[in-house]
Amino acid sequence: MEKGELLYEGKAKRIFETDDEGVLWAEFKDSATAFDGVKKGTIKKKGVYNATMSAKLFAVLERAGVATHFEKQFDERTLLVRRLEMFPVEIVMRNRVAGSLAKRYGLERGTVLKKPLLEYYLKNDDLHDPMMNRNHVLVLGYMTERTLSHVEAEAAKVNRVLTNYMKDRGLELVDFKLEFGERGRKIYLGDEISPDTCRIWDAATGEVFDKDRFRFDLGEVESHYEEVVRRLTA
Ligand code: TMP
Ligand code: ASP
Repeated sequence: MEKGELLYEGKAKRIFETDDEGVLWAEFKDSATAFDGVKKGTIKKKGVYNATMSAKLFAVLERAGVATHFEKQFDERTLLVRRLEMFPVEIVMRNRVAGSLAKRYGLERGTVLKKPLLEYYLKNDDLHDPMMNRNHVLVLGYMTERTLSHVEAEAAKVNRVLTNYMKDRGLELVDFKLEFGERGRKIYLGDEISPDTCRIWDAATGEVFDKDRFRFDLGEVESHYEEVVRRLTA
């Protein structure tokens, strides 16, 4: 597999074409941003941790019957993935109150939700990823009813599979963000699944193993990324 032209550079990844039209080269960077790019920094080896954790969890999900864009891990910070047309919608699933949910509604961090809460955000940095409801997604034409229903069912399945997988490893999946795309009328889970895009706490102690360590200057960011990836790939 040969790396081709740079197609797109985001805050956490560089996406290149390859010699196969249907396959993209996703290179994970160490740069980190938070609060809509206001806070910037570097997390040493983050690209390696995020690529490795994504590869593992995509494989776990594929085994459970979730279609993902993942093909293989090419090197420590590169995944080969299926080329998709991405929907500009971020799907957030929450099991406990944290982050923007706590802030927006004045709720206590850590409260268990009575059922998983699904939220929709428009993926648009200039507009600061505004929250949407289901009607916005449909009426503004970001997804069809058929696609959205499918994506909602897949997100619920991802939550069940990853919650169980993490529980077996002494971890709790607090919330996470997913992005989906389409190729040849089939819908796939895309992007990444990493400590940047999930909140993961130690199941017994509540210790934070995700990007909140960077967002809120909790310290020992690298060692916690390393440890959570170690536990999830052991
Ligand atoms: P939030 O509480 O800040 O809305 O974040 C919810 C989840 O979504 C959390 O696991 C982090 C993830 N997330 C991203 O992956 N990208 C983003 O830009 C934001 C805001 C959150
Ligand atoms: N990823 C977003 C940013 O770069 C927000 C966040 O993760 O807190 O600003």
